Amino acid sequence: MPLVTRVTDLIGRTPLFELAATTTGTRLLLKLEPFNPTGAAKIRMAREMVLDAERRGLLTSGGHIIESTSGNTGLGLAVVAAERGYRFTAVVDHHACKDKLRAMRAMGAELVFVADDGDDNLATSAREDLAEAMAAARPDAYFTEQHNNDTNAVGYYAVAEELLEDVERVDILLSSVGTGGSLFGTATRLRQLGCPAYVIGVEPVGSIAFGGEGGPYWQSGTGTPPGATIGTAVDYSLLDEGVKVSDVAAFATARAVAKELGLMIGGSAGGSVHAALSRLEEFPAGSTIVTIVCDGGEKYLDTVFDDDWMRERDLLDPAAEDDVRAMLHRYVPAGRRSELAEAR
Ligand SMILES: Cc1ncc(COP(=O)(O)O)c(C=O)c1O
Repeated sequence: MPLVTRVTDLIGRTPLFELAATTTGTRLLLKLEPFNPTGAAKIRMAREMVLDAERRGLLTSGGHIIESTSGNTGLGLAVVAAERGYRFTAVVDHHACKDKLRAMRAMGAELVFVADDGDDNLATSAREDLAEAMAAARPDAYFTEQHNNDTNAVGYYAVAEELLEDVERVDILLSSVGTGGSLFGTATRLRQLGCPAYVIGVEPVGSIAFGGEGGPYWQSGTGTPPGATIGTAVDYSLLDEGVKVSDVAAFATARAVAKELGLMIGGSAGGSVHAALSRLEEFPAGSTIVTIVCDGGEKYLDTVFDDDWMRERDLLDPAAEDDVRAMLHRYVPAGRRSELAEAR
């Protein structure tokens, strides 16, 4: 790695980690995006959106960036804004992880909270409406509008390029869908590079991008809650399958992976890993499956990894964790995982 002079020079070249493999040579690989600055994938698209706005003359020196964020996009924009001399306002809600909010503030971002409606529903559409109204009222402000910004997906082209530097091919790309930028941006570039992977999107039960009934869910950053608009980055023409994972299964997976392997992944990645592990042997023998781990478990110590928080919401399910641990025992050789407590 050459000497770097900007924090954003540290984006990318994240490690690829083999989580699991079957005896028939099918393997599940994790693209570990927590190794980016801010500990998340979203800084890739945050930089891309700002550079694009500069190129188009929409942001000029001393300008003001506004975005609605569940946290990780805001962290990325806070870095880019600090580095390039912009003011940044993040429109957030009470669901955001406290540490993400504190870190945004530490980097000079201003936080504006949408009104707390007192229930457990995500406030995505209220956030977006407020961000849009704030930007409209300020002539120097630019609303990056991640849900409807074409450069969101372009920000992940490098993920595909990095993957093909590390492995010969990706047969199945299986990952969570919030704005859709990370999954569909990576899938688009894989295709352009001659590697048309089978694309499986994962969203929480209660999210509406793949149909079905909407409802509340706790997986952070991912999915489209009822009432929110599905962003233009969700490219259904590239989607081969959309699957849903419950909060219980997603969080049990993040917790089991931490206990078994010492690898801390966030709740949305827990959902994708659960979807992949549960059907690993259904995929054609020898398949290479890749999941993008958007962020790390360290961001969820007060939630997913806190037994009281989990219990209060009826999400703690030792049997579900045991099921995941059993899958990990099946697919991860001894010597790479915990052997202290044999799973069922
Ligand atoms: C933790 C987490 N997982 C998944 C996603 C979904 O990524 P995308 O918006 O690229 O679909 C996000 C997006 O904010 C996120 O913060």
